[in-house]
Amino acid sequence: MAGGRNAGRVIVVTGAGSGIGAAAVERLVEEGASVVAVDLTADSLAWCAGAPGADRIATVVGSVADDSTNAEMVAVAVERFGALHGAFLNAGIATFGVMQSAPMEMLDRALEVNVRGVALGIKAVIPELRKVDGGAIVVTGSTSGLAADPGNWSYNASKAAVINLARGAAIDLATLGIRVNAVCPGPTRTNMTKPMLDRGGDSQVRRSVPMGRWGEPSELAAAASFLLSKDASFITGVALPVDGGLTADSGAIPLYGARLVDREG
Ligand SMILES: NC(=O)c1ccc[n+]([C@@H]2O[C@H](COP(=O)([O-])OP(=O)(O)OC[C@H]3O[C@@H](n4cnc5c(N)ncnc54)[C@H](O)[C@@H]3O)[C@@H](O)[C@H]2O)c1
Repeated sequence: MAGGRNAGRVIVVTGAGSGIGAAAVERLVEEGASVVAVDLTADSLAWCAGAPGADRIATVVGSVADDSTNAEMVAVAVERFGALHGAFLNAGIATFGVMQSAPMEMLDRALEVNVRGVALGIKAVIPELRKVDGGAIVVTGSTSGLAADPGNWSYNASKAAVINLARGAAIDLATLGIRVNAVCPGPTRTNMTKPMLDRGGDSQVRRSVPMGRWGEPSELAAAASFLLSKDASFITGVALPVDGGLTADSGAIPLYGARLVDREG
């Protein structure tokens, strides 16, 4: 799609080695963008070399929690593709352990990657985004940042923080012409949720999501690519659930009846 929604734009994607980030790279390239794909290891990014439009994908290996990685991804965008128009700051880690016994280091780890890594990314891309028309940042929050889950307090805290970080950044950067939004995935089939699936979480999720199924990484990529594009030119500071209706449901009345039978079928 050479003339697609993000044609000619240059966009950084973090956490591009897997799941939602990898799907976003594919989607943005399909829409005509050039992409700098960032992840922890060269192995995780090896798929980029064989992807359609591989000549419009550059890779950077490093942690988003390090200043040097964030500086490098911006430098590579400018050196290789001539500018930077957008950033999908999506890299994140999951942390599990109940409040009464999990160590504080778990919170530190979640905050380091899921919050500090995103704040560093936003700060790093501002100088280039303010030079271009339609600069945009999308961060990956979570439905777990809009409400809480069992054994997830540290992850919940980090995702709530990154959502409000996006709102604060949206306000500060609005007059620079840079929009900042969050996508909030519900349960999505990726490496992150594979352990949950392996523990039998599939039917549990299908019962609690009104649409009765998991999200696919491509569905998150579609939402992120919209918010990164000029089609979203007057949208800033939103936290968009992409969750099959999960956060629309108060949970007070169990999902029941014919639809529950459907999802059990
Ligand atoms: N899968 C879900 O159900 C779900 C739900 C809500 C939110 N999310 C969020 O979506 C984002 C993407 O997760 P996913 O589900 O695609 O998981 P994933 O594990 O498939 O992909 C995450 C990628 O981020 C990379 N990463 C982790 N720490 C990094 C760091 N410090 N620096 C650079 N890269 C790093 C990993 O190596 C991995 O390739 C995360 O922020 C996650 O919290 C996922």
